[in-house]
Amino acid sequence: MTGRQTTQWQPVCNRKSLQPGLFIEFSMDRAGPGLTESADTLPQRGFVFLDDTTPRAYLNQCPHTGIELNWMPGRFMDTDNLFIQCSTHGALFKPGDGECIAGPCQGDVLTALDVRENGEILEVRLPE
Ligand code: FES
Repeated sequence: MTGRQTTQWQPVCNRKSLQPGLFIEFSMDRAGPGLTESADTLPQRGFVFLDDTTPRAYLNQCPHTGIELNWMPGRFMDTDNLFIQCSTHGALFKPGDGECIAGPCQGDVLTALDVRENGEILEVRLPE
């Protein structure tokens, strides 16, 4: 028995509500059925957005310190609207794969979430 957690798909929004430029934040609960909540299973925050036409989702957690990236709800992009930016020390991340291309965690990556469309609903889960 490995004790490995299974991750479950969780609905985050209607696909049609995800418009270009919009970042929708959500909480993830890592506690699966039968698991009690602990420090490892406290809800994590995430966000989903359109990268061109592709929905992408990441944990809202800067690889530098683990703090949330944004300081205002729904505001994740830099002033040029090209990169996801951490509001604490200004690290820049590529929207397509979450790679940090500038800042104190250069070379690290955001934690990407699996995204799927289930009918009209977008669902996410932690990658296995
Ligand atoms: S906490 Fe994000 S760059 Fe330092």
